Amino acid sequence: MTVIEQLNERRETARLGGGQKRIDAQHAKGKLTARERLELLLDPDSFEEFDMFVKHRSTDFGMDKSHIPGDGVVTGWGTINGRKTFVFAQDFTVYGGSLSETHAKKINKVQRMAMQQGAPIIGLSDSGGARIQEGVAALAGYTDVFQNNIRASGVVPQISVIMGPSAGGAVYSPALTDFVFMVRDTSYMFLTGPDVLKTVTNEIVTAEELGGAKTHTTKSSVADGAYDNDMEALAEIRRLFDFLPLNNRAGAPRRPVFDKHDRIEPSLDTLVPDNPNLPYDMKELVHKIADEGDFFEIQRDFAKNILCGFIRVEGQTVGVVANQPMVLAGCLDSDASRKAARFVRFCDCFEIPIVTLVDVPGFLPGVSQEHNGVIKNGAKLLYAYGEATVPRITVITRKAYGGAYCVMSPKHLGADINYAWPSAQIAVMGAKGATEILFRKDLDDADKTAEHIADYEEKFLSPFRAAELGYIDEVIKPQSTRKRISRGLALLSDKATKNPWKKHGNLPL
Ligand code: HXC
Repeated sequence: MTVIEQLNERRETARLGGGQKRIDAQHAKGKLTARERLELLLDPDSFEEFDMFVKHRSTDFGMDKSHIPGDGVVTGWGTINGRKTFVFAQDFTVYGGSLSETHAKKINKVQRMAMQQGAPIIGLSDSGGARIQEGVAALAGYTDVFQNNIRASGVVPQISVIMGPSAGGAVYSPALTDFVFMVRDTSYMFLTGPDVLKTVTNEIVTAEELGGAKTHTTKSSVADGAYDNDMEALAEIRRLFDFLPLNNRAGAPRRPVFDKHDRIEPSLDTLVPDNPNLPYDMKELVHKIADEGDFFEIQRDFAKNILCGFIRVEGQTVGVVANQPMVLAGCLDSDASRKAARFVRFCDCFEIPIVTLVDVPGFLPGVSQEHNGVIKNGAKLLYAYGEATVPRITVITRKAYGGAYCVMSPKHLGADINYAWPSAQIAVMGAKGATEILFRKDLDDADKTAEHIADYEEKFLSPFRAAELGYIDEVIKPQSTRKRISRGLALLSDKATKNPWKKHGNLPL
């Protein structure tokens, strides 16, 4: 056999992972193999594999007699629509994708290269956790992966896709990355599994209920999105990748666009209903601002009273944060504040401009809100906006009341351009509430009360008092919102603002 034939044979063996039987078992569960997944994630023929022949070094529990090249994880780099990315995909057919010392070292290598080369890293998880035969060496390996996740945070985008089990401390690598996506019915994440719960806390729960995609996208907010199968998940990760910068110095990507930057949308002039208590769908505005109506939403199923996600304007990626009047009247609460704060910080560390669309009647009142720390959670969003130095444009479409006005990217928190629609109402509170407090003694007199309400409405329930004070730069026609935003972003493209030097701030975590 020639050396080339030997190489081919070794490669073929490695590519077979844990063997055809285990590959068939993987397919029978509706899952693809690690290599099949990478083929779908990356551009055709772009994958360059590293460390295909790495083997574990453990000798206990008969492991000295079992060596499968690659050691349960496929690593390397490739391109997505021509832009480079590093990848690792755990191979469940090899020791259940469990993480050994050498498996971790392979991941560490691509993590380090991603940071050096300034390219994102995408991890596809499908693993039984720490390699049980290795004990503490596997724990050390995990911790090395965590440390690299932390170092890479804010340097290159990190994306995790959970495509099988992810249990125990293994969940912490994904949790340290920027985005976590799951596949419905075949993936789960939990620290402590159903069997242990049954013994320790007497709780009886399935793996799906405890840590499936539905749980993590609607209740815990650990995951940013979920997809029906491997193929859909990988196609959507490619779509997200196109929105992301390669690293913290590359700037938001720009791609060719065929949508007019000054497109006028007359239908927006009637988006806000005449009755200020009626809801409308803020997503309509997001779609109408975006190039070709394309919106990649993050955490679509969690804290639906706020929308977060990426659009493009004139081809450039922009982060959008928007109150959603369709849910809880658009009120801010603990969950919405945490969700938006994390998104704002992602945009800020990767130099993605932020557009904020405001229609918020205030913070959601309630004992549970207070007891669940709405003060600290609201402060997270305040902090995130106040610290963000990327170009920022705010548009108030309707209500901007009370503390929520202060939080939703006003000028006073460093926003660059603040617009209001003529329907905007910028006040400490609604006119009825204000009258009930200021003129309590007149409440029995319906005429006087109506007069006070009208007076308050005239003074504050418009954008003009704020515009007189210079807090609003211009009152704009709703139909021209996209044009105003695109011109504003062009103006702000050279913005250079720095916060005072510090090691790091103390975000109210
Ligand atoms: C070594 C493992 C393994 C592990 C699975 N395998 N998990 N080998 N270490 N952690 C092997 C199995 O022996 C089996 O080998 C193959 O992978 C497939 O596993 P099955 O059990 O047959 O598959 P399935 O029925 O689909 O069940 C998958 C599973 C189960 C639910 C993940 O394997 C499981 O419960 N594994 C153990 C999970 C666990 O407790 N891990 C440690 C968590 S603690 P063969 O040769 O038969 O194909 C942890 C701490 C990390 O991770 C801390 C970091 C700080």
